[in-house]
Amino acid sequence: MDGPSGTGKSTVSRRLAAACDAAYLDTGAMYRAVTLAVLRAGLGGAEPAAAEVAVGAVADLRSVTDPAAPAILLHGADVEAEIRGPEVTRAVSAVSAQPAVRTALVERQRALIADAVVAGGIVVEGRDIGSVVTPDAPLKVYLTASDEVRAARRSAQDRKAGRAAETAAVLADVRRRDRLDSTRKVSPLHAAPDALVLDTDDLSVDAVLTELLRLVHERGLCRE
Ligand code: DC
Repeated sequence: MDGPSGTGKSTVSRRLAAACDAAYLDTGAMYRAVTLAVLRAGLGGAEPAAAEVAVGAVADLRSVTDPAAPAILLHGADVEAEIRGPEVTRAVSAVSAQPAVRTALVERQRALIADAVVAGGIVVEGRDIGSVVTPDAPLKVYLTASDEVRAARRSAQDRKAGRAAETAAVLADVRRRDRLDSTRKVSPLHAAPDALVLDTDDLSVDAVLTELLRLVHERGLCRE
């Protein structure tokens, strides 16, 4: 499941995984967690030394792939709240544009996916899952929505989590990250040629989930 921020990727991916008794992997949380390690080291995301710190942090990451309680641990501590904060959100695109960081995380993601496939399947969300991480995935979906709708969803989500969220500022941040994520040299955000593109502007989460369940059942991919 790929697409930019604010398309509802996380919510529908988690619910789809739970409905199919599959694992769930949020790869954005992995990029965010290594970015947190960079910030803790007192570095900015674009500094050359940042890549070294981020790659080093990959060994200290643990992803919990239970869709009922997904989590990301850095040095054994749950960092979910910190990785969603504004500092990490500001720096994550620069860190995730570093080729060495992508190589290290893609390798880790492929290993997690291989284990989960043996155990019964996995829903993976990110920006380059269908295009780079698992080009042979049996179903690829690319979620889109207009900038305005995505910013409105993001600010509602932030407010719910108790973070300040002024819609104009969130819209500017959504556009800034889209630009950085789509123009980076390595694995820029784009739909894989064989991905099904789903525009979610006028679709509720339930409607997107219904369509996804139809697709996985049609392909015999859901265990339930
Ligand atoms: O999905 P998210 O907003 O939590 O992702 C955070 C950032 O991580 C996003 O701006 C781009 C990067 N990312 C990436 O480059 N590749 C992925 N597979 C997932 C996320």
